[in-house]
Amino acid sequence: MRRPYLIAGNWKMNHGPAETEAFFAAFEAPRHPEVEVLLCVPYVSLPAALVRGGYARIGAQNLHFENDGAFTGEISGSMLTKMGVDSVIIGHSERRQYFGETDAHVLKKTRKALESGMTPIVCVGEVLAERRAGTHVDVVKRQIDAVFTQLDAAQASATVIAYEPVWAIGTGETATPEQAQEMHAAIRSWLASDTRILYGGSMNAANAEALLSQPDVDGGLIGGASLKPDLFMSIVQTAIQLR
Ligand code: PGA
Repeated sequence: MRRPYLIAGNWKMNHGPAETEAFFAAFEAPRHPEVEVLLCVPYVSLPAALVRGGYARIGAQNLHFENDGAFTGEISGSMLTKMGVDSVIIGHSERRQYFGETDAHVLKKTRKALESGMTPIVCVGEVLAERRAGTHVDVVKRQIDAVFTQLDAAQASATVIAYEPVWAIGTGETATPEQAQEMHAAIRSWLASDTRILYGGSMNAANAEALLSQPDVDGGLIGGASLKPDLFMSIVQTAIQLR
């Protein structure tokens, strides 16, 4: 069976509850059994998204790796699943860069997300200096191995990977479809499981078709272009047309 596409939006720190209501009032993507749609919204917008999201899956952008306790300001996986949240982004490059998240945190959070019953979306990707130095494949392999050597086959299949070259995030500069496919094929060769691999980094309505048509690209993790309902819908449409 073909791996279904996953078209995932990452709103980052954008769209509070009122903007979330407005987004979903205007968002009506056509459905297809092989195209899943997910929106990862700020914690405070989860209630509005869960009520208004229609058939879209709703995810968070982070979780803590314990269930409860003295962790001021944190939110646990079990809190999220009890609300109805079914996915969570883990180890986004902004979390690694600004909040000190390491491969060890990413592993703990991935385990907790799986234990809580959520789909973890584990982000990996090299920075520009690593790409220029030609070490990008090694960097991504280290990030993947840190998590996937510790998961069993069922856990690995239930996890999603997002390959996001850091130099392409929010910069308008996208990896070429060939660069994306090359890394996705490498990641696939390291995995024993049928894990889906999304591409992220300036994916938009104009470049989505070329990226999504690569054989090892199973969807997208989309930042800027997921904030506007029409732009995001057009990426969902592109995925549907490719099926
Ligand atoms: P971008 O963000 O689409 O705005 O580049 C992608 C991401 O950071 O997940």
